[in-house]
Amino acid sequence: MIRFKVNGVERQWNGSAEMPLLWYLRDELGLTGAKFGCGVALCGACTVHQNGHAVRSCVVAMQQVAGAEIVTIEGLAGGDGDLHPVQKAWIEHNVPQCGYCQAGQIMQAAALLAESPHPKDEEILGAMAGNICRCGAYQRILAAVRTAAGSSKDRAGEIPPPQYGAPGARAAAGRRRAANHSADHAASIGGSDGEVERAGMVAGAPARAAGGRQ
Ligand code: FES
Ligand code: FES
Repeated sequence: MIRFKVNGVERQWNGSAEMPLLWYLRDELGLTGAKFGCGVALCGACTVHQNGHAVRSCVVAMQQVAGAEIVTIEGLAGGDGDLHPVQKAWIEHNVPQCGYCQAGQIMQAAALLAESPHPKDEEILGAMAGNICRCGAYQRILAAVRTAAGSSKDRAGEIPPPQYGAPGARAAAGRRRAANHSADHAASIGGSDGEVERAGMVAGAPARAAGGRQ
């Protein structure tokens, strides 16, 4: 039997010791904030905290979490429901586009700031480099991490071009597609509902596409 904690709650597992933690979180506990992307620790969509460190839950076997404290995006906010500073910054900068990568991005950023409360840009970019965003929201991600770290908001206009993710031409095309998607999405759901939906993504309760599995 494997015993551990998830978001402060004692858990135990009698099933496969090799099963990925991500399966347990999503299928056994219904914590679907962490996403399946690549399955081989290359995209960061499945990032959670294990004993305070960011880990890729798609490649963490259940036997590796014995005695561990696991925190997912659903448990990142304080017990009183007060959002984590990273979550607040994410909302302030309106970071999510489609939202798929966002739980992983936030958990990676929160782990970085726990270890290094005032990182320089190079440190932020290095820590976040393994978290891929297909929508190309990298500049907003960097801005939000800066804000969460207490950097001056007036630096928002100084954000350099993305140093990671897709190469320039593909990234630019991705941003155009994302912008078009965003406009269509906003038109279809209306402005205020869109804000609620994005806030939900940040707090770990993403709106689901009809019939889809997020
Ligand atoms: S799904 Fe785990 S890193 Fe991609
Ligand atoms: S994959 Fe990052 S917001 Fe869409």
